Amino acid sequence: MFHVHKMSVDDFAFAVRLTDTMNWNLVEEDFQFMTDLEPEGCFIIWDESERIGVATTISYGKVGWLGNVIVREEYRGRGVGSLLVKHALDFLIKQDVETIGLYAYQNKIPFYQRLGLEYDSDFIVLRGKPDSSSEQVHQREASKNDERKIIDLDHFCFGASRRKLLAPILSESSNICYVDKEKGLIRGFVVAKVYHEMAEVGPLVCQRGYPDIAIDLLKAALNRVKGLEVVTCIPEKETIIRSTLMKQGFSEAFRVVRMFYGVPRLNDCIYMAESLERG
Ligand SMILES: CC(C)(COP(=O)(O)OP(=O)(O)OC[C@H]1O[C@@H](n2cnc3c(N)ncnc32)[C@H](O)[C@@H]1OP(=O)(O)O)[C@@H](O)C(=O)NCCC(=O)NCCS
Repeated sequence: MFHVHKMSVDDFAFAVRLTDTMNWNLVEEDFQFMTDLEPEGCFIIWDESERIGVATTISYGKVGWLGNVIVREEYRGRGVGSLLVKHALDFLIKQDVETIGLYAYQNKIPFYQRLGLEYDSDFIVLRGKPDSSSEQVHQREASKNDERKIIDLDHFCFGASRRKLLAPILSESSNICYVDKEKGLIRGFVVAKVYHEMAEVGPLVCQRGYPDIAIDLLKAALNRVKGLEVVTCIPEKETIIRSTLMKQGFSEAFRVVRMFYGVPRLNDCIYMAESLERG
C-alpha cells in the first residue's frame, strides 16, 4: 500500500539520490531549505517501508507552488505520482491556498491536466558562464532598508507576498540583490543566489514600461556572478532578456510550462522566476 508522509531530515539523502536521476542538481541543503520554509508541506511517498517518491510545496497566502515531483522509475505508471500530487494539492488547499503554480516539462502537461492544472505559458531554463563585461550599469546593491519595498513590489507582481522566501534569501550574505530606485520608489530588483561555484539568477521583477531597467538589473547581477555556472528561468516571451543572456554565452538547457490550479493572480512584471520549485 502506498502512503504519504511529511519529509524529514532522514529523507534528504533519498530525495537527493532520486532527483539526481533527473540531473536536477539538488543537495541536502535544498531539501533542508524547503522543509524549513514549509515544514508540513514537503512529502515522501512510501510503498510499505520503501521510499518511492518526493514532492515539495510552499504556500504564500492565497498562492502556493508545487515542485520536485518525482517517482522512482520502476513505480511509474501505477498511480503513485497522481496520489502524491493530489496529496500535495490537498495540503495547499487546506492552507486556504486558491492558486497553485507549477513548472512542468512539456511532456507532463496531460499528467497535470488530469489533476486539475491548466497550461499558462512557456518558460526557458538557460545555463551559462557569463563573460566579463566592461559595461557600466547604474543600479545599486540593495540595503537592509530596501527589504520591505522589494517584498512589496514582488507581492504586486507575483500576486502574493513571498516574504517568507525572500527575507531569508536577502539576508544571506553570499547572495546578491540589485535595486532600481527612483525618488524612494523601487521600480525593479534582481536577486542572484550564490552557492559554491554556481549561481541562480532570479527573481528579476520590474514594473512594466521600463524594459531598460530590467536589462540593466540583469547586467548588474551577471557582472557579479561572472565566471560561475549560472542557471536562470525566463518567460519565453521575454526575448530581450533572452538575447542579453545569449550574448553573455548562455544557452537553452530545456523548456518548461507554467501551469496553474485555480485562477492565476500574477501581474505581468516577472522577468525571471525565483526557482522551478518555488515560483
Ligand atoms: C511525472 C511522474 C512523477 C508521474 O509519476 P507516476 O507515478 O508515473 O504517475 P501516475 O502513475 O499517477 O500517472 C502516470 C500515467 O500512468 C497512468 N496510470 C496511472 N495509474 C495507472 C494504472 N493503475 N494503470 C495504468 N496506468 C495508470 C496515468 O493515467 C498517467 O498517464 P499520463 O502520464 O498520460 O497522464 C513520473 O513520471 C516521474 O517521476 N517522472 C520523472 C520526473 C519528472 O518528470 N517529474 C515531473 C516534473 S514536471
